[in-house]
Amino acid sequence: MATATQAVRLDEKVTQFVSKPRKMLINGKWVESASGKTFPSYNPATGEILAHVAEGDREDINRAVAAARAAFDSGPWSKMTPSERGRLIWKLADLIEKHSEAFAGLESLDNGKPLAIARVADVPGAVDMFRYMAGWATKIEGNTIPISMPGSKFLAYTLREPVGVVGQIIPWNFPLLMASWKLGPALAAGCTVVLKPAEQTPLSALLLGELVQEAGIPDGVVNIVPGYGETAGAALASHPDVDKIAFTGSTEVGKLIVQAAAGNLKKVSLELGGKSPNVVFQDADLNASIAGASLGIFFNHGQCCCAGSRLYVEEKAFDEVVEGVAAEASKIRLGPGVEPTTDMGPLVSEEQLNRVCGYLESGLAEGAKAVAGGGRHGDKGYFVKPTVLVNTHEKMKVVREEIFGPVVTAIPFRDLDDLVSKANGTVYGLASGVWTRDIAKAHHVASRLRAGTVWINCYNVFDSALPFGGYKQSGWGREMGHEVLELYTEVKSVCLPIS
Ligand code: NAI
Ligand code: MG
Repeated sequence: MATATQAVRLDEKVTQFVSKPRKMLINGKWVESASGKTFPSYNPATGEILAHVAEGDREDINRAVAAARAAFDSGPWSKMTPSERGRLIWKLADLIEKHSEAFAGLESLDNGKPLAIARVADVPGAVDMFRYMAGWATKIEGNTIPISMPGSKFLAYTLREPVGVVGQIIPWNFPLLMASWKLGPALAAGCTVVLKPAEQTPLSALLLGELVQEAGIPDGVVNIVPGYGETAGAALASHPDVDKIAFTGSTEVGKLIVQAAAGNLKKVSLELGGKSPNVVFQDADLNASIAGASLGIFFNHGQCCCAGSRLYVEEKAFDEVVEGVAAEASKIRLGPGVEPTTDMGPLVSEEQLNRVCGYLESGLAEGAKAVAGGGRHGDKGYFVKPTVLVNTHEKMKVVREEIFGPVVTAIPFRDLDDLVSKANGTVYGLASGVWTRDIAKAHHVASRLRAGTVWINCYNVFDSALPFGGYKQSGWGREMGHEVLELYTEVKSVCLPIS
């Protein structure tokens, strides 16, 4: 069953972890699913089964929500001081760091990403997120408010209280990192959680669950229920005892989450899809722009909600930049994530392979030309060649829809207004990039782009302190930074006459 015997030696814990069926974490106990069913998680580099995992469904979600409810309403979590909470979150970060190699190995096998990337991006990013949020636990404050009601003098203040039991549904592109973006702030705010990892990549969240226990976070505070979206995910999103649902994934499912949440009007935050423009002006440092445009689309195989998937280049620089990005694409070495020579691994699943290849076929059929890549790589595993498409225009599906693969469309622009209207001509508004040496122009364009993030002369710069989220159909709310605390707290106004 385990395929952890590949080119590099993986951490011992990885082999051990995938060697037996994994259970789910409910109320501090590792249990089988109520139905007894399991589901397979695959190694996308080979298409073989990597591990079997307990398959959660409505009954398991009911049990997990009941545990989270009890831990929130009357359990030790509700009585813990902010400082104690912060210390436990910090301890969890230390434990993840201690097991960095195991996490990197699991992430690489389960998701397909290069081990080297998991080591420098996913794992340290998750550690940092927990540490950053550990610091916030003691700093969630209200205000004192001046009251103008005649007659008496009033003292009025606000409290920021935890929103309650939170359901968190995460995707497969950064499995551990997304778990940290969700769990970190929820725990800092004093919420309890039911986390549902993506069915494609449940393993790192389950290892995280072991460390949650080792850190001493009380039973029932973090429950982890792997399973499919239409069953476990839908049951969590519609559950009447869940106070808030936090979701990252497709815009399509985001809309289903909103409908499912309507029953008890639970709070909802959403990090959804994107079709982010990466804009190169001819006065930019073109070498840096070429490197940035490549990183913008090819990082994580294009499986990033913020991928710079629409490259807009000012006419005079178009050929040079596109040739440069195509040359970069052609240099990328594809292979299993655990091979040391691999720059880019497989897509996460056969479904994603077919989806991305379907987009490529549709683009080429509509007249696009691939100046690099253009299709599947090999016939084993789910590899797609890094692809640069030209001769594309705004009506094509490949330019309008999120592909979520290593595919960029390049389109020239004439002037600033032309650029702004093209860049904003999407239902999404997650991220964007601007490359220019003209500082005023950079800020001017930044002010006109309808997107939650604008990277100027850089791309994919993330920080636990920097808010991230979408305009338009890219989502509701902001994750990271202190902004995220608003998603996990309610504001209570308290007012009394004092004279
Ligand atoms: P998805 O949106 O179906 O899956 C994301 C999460 O939602 C998973 O945990 C899944 O189990 C859960 N889910 C699915 N249906 C659900 C439902 N009805 N109720 C509750 N939870 C549900 O994304 P999928 O199918 O894996 O990928 C399809 C496309 O979605 C990708 O090609 C990409 O365009 C986009 N996507 C965007 C992500 C982002 O970070 N914004 C991440 C993953 C996918
Ligand atoms: Mg997998």
